Amino acid sequence: MTVNAGLNSRRRIWKMGNKKKMTVADFRKYKAEGRKFSYVTAYDYTMASIVNESDVEVILVGDSLGMTMLGYKGTESVTMDDMIHHIKPVVKGAPDTWIVGDMPFGSYQISDEQAVTNAVRMIKETNCDCIKLEGGVEMLPRIKAIAGAGINVMGHIGLTPQTSSSLGGFKVQGGTPESAAKLIKDAIELEKAGCFSIVLECVPSVVGKAMSEAVKIPILGIGAGPYVDCQVLVIHDLLGMYSDFKPKFVKQFAQVRKIMVEALNQFNKESIEGTFPSPEYSFNKEVEIPKLY
Ligand code: KIV
Repeated sequence: MTVNAGLNSRRRIWKMGNKKKMTVADFRKYKAEGRKFSYVTAYDYTMASIVNESDVEVILVGDSLGMTMLGYKGTESVTMDDMIHHIKPVVKGAPDTWIVGDMPFGSYQISDEQAVTNAVRMIKETNCDCIKLEGGVEMLPRIKAIAGAGINVMGHIGLTPQTSSSLGGFKVQGGTPESAAKLIKDAIELEKAGCFSIVLECVPSVVGKAMSEAVKIPILGIGAGPYVDCQVLVIHDLLGMYSDFKPKFVKQFAQVRKIMVEALNQFNKESIEGTFPSPEYSFNKEVEIPKLY
């Protein structure tokens, strides 16, 4: 077997999962049936293929890639080109998973025309299944315009990272009766405008529950408590790939960073000692080497 044949056979295994890709109708159906599901971020081919092999049914190529992939402090500088660059390999790596493309800051705020142009570009160039944009009732014209162009739209309310500075930073939202009521009204209006689902970020659990009861589309909660229809996490957070910062709502389901650092240290040690590569990891064919030096 050649080295390339090895890689190709690995790719085939990645596609062997028995997951069936959700349709847009399934989102409402799951909600109607009270069937919960989960949703994670991914930003590259390999990670997407790992999610595809798992039971997780939805991937977000989030603008959080500004932090996880590009090393920025926030999401504001992420561009349409950055998003398209990362969505394309995710779509290739996860053919059985619903893929959400996140509209970056500045790509839809200016006008309905700008929003539709960029949403169309995202779908056309990447083949993702829907777009996501942040904002409540102030975004209704954009949502109607994009949905009117035949594109599936996922909303995002509560803590909206692109405009977090105007919300006073990364803070829990909906903490008063008035602000909770505003968020629930936002969700009702987003549903009417054509959103097929809504991400709800960082709110008290009771707000997540009330919102989920108020609409017929799934509420996809990140830091929104246990009563919403779907749980969302950034994959680097849930796999434990960061050691420095962990928001309260993140559960680390593994300690992948620790495993990776240990593996790298072991590789380094064996490389220095000369115990790697042993014959098992070497091409051992005897070849008579002509005397050249
Ligand atoms: O970009 C992102 O990862 C997100 C999640 C926080 C939902 O929008």
